[in-house]
Amino acid sequence: MSELNKIVLKIISNGKGILAADESNATMTKRLESVNVPSTPENRLLFRESILSSESMKECIGGVILYDETINQKTSFGKSIPDLISSSGALTGIKVDTGAKELANSSEEKITEGLDGLRERLKKYYKLGARFAKWRGVYSISEEYPSKLAIYSNAHALARYSALVQESRMVPIVEPEVLMDGDHSADTCYKKTSEVIKKCFDELILHKVDLSGIILKPNMILAGNRSKDKVSSKEVSQKTLQCLKNSVPNEVPGVSFLSGGQSEIEATENLNLINKNNKTKFIMTYSYGRALQQSALKIWSKNTKDIEATQNIFNHRVKMCTLAAQGKWSYELENQ
Ligand code: G3H
Repeated sequence: MSELNKIVLKIISNGKGILAADESNATMTKRLESVNVPSTPENRLLFRESILSSESMKECIGGVILYDETINQKTSFGKSIPDLISSSGALTGIKVDTGAKELANSSEEKITEGLDGLRERLKKYYKLGARFAKWRGVYSISEEYPSKLAIYSNAHALARYSALVQESRMVPIVEPEVLMDGDHSADTCYKKTSEVIKKCFDELILHKVDLSGIILKPNMILAGNRSKDKVSSKEVSQKTLQCLKNSVPNEVPGVSFLSGGQSEIEATENLNLINKNNKTKFIMTYSYGRALQQSALKIWSKNTKDIEATQNIFNHRVKMCTLAAQGKWSYELENQ
């Protein structure tokens, strides 16, 4: 087993999942302002430190993705954030893209940037304790989009990033996110997501990326958030499994889904059914941002000193997601 494959398995085996706490300062500012908390470095640290010290981290979380500001911060008791994460047995990850910018010659679409100087930044992050990285390509969806240009250029960037990350002895999370915004059907999402994922693997293979040392972070197959179609969780799970079975090479050890705007319960229920019906050899787990932190953030904002209340909510959500990653979740367990 390669070193990279060992890292992957440490992060996502046995129902463990990933906490995506890598919101950029701009995104975190939106999240904090939505609950009326000023977005200062101290407040961003306080919330993250509270959830990272939760008891469920040990049992449920295999990896935490951080943003550049956080990986350089120290907790109020003097530990670095990567040390706090490793004290719970999890690995530290780092978001290394510098964001999605307007794509030249297709101005309504986005290309993710951040390749310049990446090799040097990866060296620095490795020294700070990072053992995996994340890069998110983002695709809008409609009859016309994503265009071939967006599909190709983002796949190319994801592959160049992955090759550099593996060269630095870290595991790349490959995240091609087909957004849920729009009135498209789940079948359109299936078709476009399949095209996007297949192109990513064409490029990963061309760039000689070791597929046993990556984690794929895709969207689930959903109808658009303005669609009139009602798609059941059962259909979401079937379509998602079929899409991944047809587009992901067998060497890939596992998949960690993004929540992408689903509610906490939807993201949990869909993951649970995916695992119940999973006949592939891929591990299927979570790498959620909003679907792990939303309720905890709301409670925390009411009294930022009440760490216990924040941790109770976070612990519950994380435990539910870890049950879902093993196909053992139910509605009844939500209320116990
Ligand atoms: O890049 C997106 C994050 O890592 C996952 O966030 O679960 O809120 O979509 P989300």
